[in-house]
Amino acid sequence: PSEMTMKDSYVLVTGGTGFIGSFTVLDLIKSGHKVVVIDNLCNSSTESLNRIKKLANLKDDIPFFKVDLLDIEALEKIFKSFKFYAVIHFAALKAVGESVQKPLLYYENNLSGTINLLKVMKAHDVKNIVFSSSATVYRQNLEGKGLIESDPLGCVNPYGRTKLFMESIITDVADSEAGWIGVLLRYFNPTGAHPSGEMGEDPLQIPNNLMPYVSQVAVGKLEKVHVFGSDYNTIDGTGVRDYIHILDLARAHVLALDKVLDTTSSEKSSVFTYNLGTGTGYSVLQMINAMSESTGNKIPYVFDPRRKGDVDTVICDPSLAEKELGFKAKYGLKEMCDDLWKWQSSNPNGYQ
Ligand code: NAD
Ligand code: WQD
Repeated sequence: PSEMTMKDSYVLVTGGTGFIGSFTVLDLIKSGHKVVVIDNLCNSSTESLNRIKKLANLKDDIPFFKVDLLDIEALEKIFKSFKFYAVIHFAALKAVGESVQKPLLYYENNLSGTINLLKVMKAHDVKNIVFSSSATVYRQNLEGKGLIESDPLGCVNPYGRTKLFMESIITDVADSEAGWIGVLLRYFNPTGAHPSGEMGEDPLQIPNNLMPYVSQVAVGKLEKVHVFGSDYNTIDGTGVRDYIHILDLARAHVLALDKVLDTTSSEKSSVFTYNLGTGTGYSVLQMINAMSESTGNKIPYVFDPRRKGDVDTVICDPSLAEKELGFKAKYGLKEMCDDLWKWQSSNPNGYQ
């Protein structure tokens, strides 16, 4: 779209009150985009939008609508009320363990939600989409080598399969008619928080992921970290992952949106796929130690058996995103842990 169209139109962010969505909304606004947020608030609250308003010095509230993607009529109303030049689609359920217990909930929410969104986008001729995918889509049997975007795909749990299917659905839709531009972003392990301590991850239940769990132990809300497995083929026997600072991850979305807007595609559709990580892996013990340094206290942990479905090492080769989006992670382990601790210690109960 020309600058003229961009002036009176918006980026729609689904799931924009959640963890990654809220940081992306902040960066989008700071980069000059006008944003409309929708979310059904099943795993977040609108307090994140108040914090964004404060950090971005906004006079007006960010336009927000409590909409469930399964409610296609409500979605339709939003598209009738605003003109969108792109959609960034975060809204999904994301707990791996829960997806094994409740596969139909995950398939319905994530797949039907995405199908509804694409239907309404198509009906309103909005054909630019940036999508939250995940490292989980890789088959991950590569002995610790950095994954590249063309590596074999395959998932071991329903959550992961919803991501893989959503990637395919978006690609099929783009292949079916001219003009679609999609960017599929495969996140590795997001962590960290805003350095001001004002924004961060706010898991409503006991965290499934390592770093929110570690930070809740650090602040005294949980007793000790359970380290899943000590006999992996890694530096110290614990699992190695590619952690990325949430500020870097948010930035990558703004760059992905630039890519979408720079790609002119009146005849052909294009779908681009990028890994988002740093390319450096850290073990569970290295992460716990780094957090201990940031907090100034030793974080207690015990070794437990391996968690089902986990593998030794998951790291990415981030070079394609650097080459094509100009994205390179700026922040390292220390910033991730310092900022996470700043957030957790100044908001022990998250946004509540
Ligand atoms: P989050 O739960 O904080 O954000 C997701 C948001 O989507 C929540 O605010 C939730 O209320 C909303 N939502 C869920 N279903 C909805 C529906 N049907 N209609 C409207 N809103 C709905 O999670 P996050 O960590 O910010 O993740 C954002 C996206 O990134 C998700 O798609 C997730 O699968 C993906 N992802 C996350 C990670 C991670 O480790 N956090 C890694 C890879 C991919
Ligand atoms: C990291 C490491 C665990 C918790 C998951 C999803 C993936 C993506 C990111 C959404 C592993 C160990 C963990 C704990 C531990 N999400 N661990 N004790 O498994 O790499 O990826 O989140 O798309 O799809 O699968 O992240 O943070 O759960 O685990 O020892 O209490 O920490 O075994 O080695 P994971 P994680």
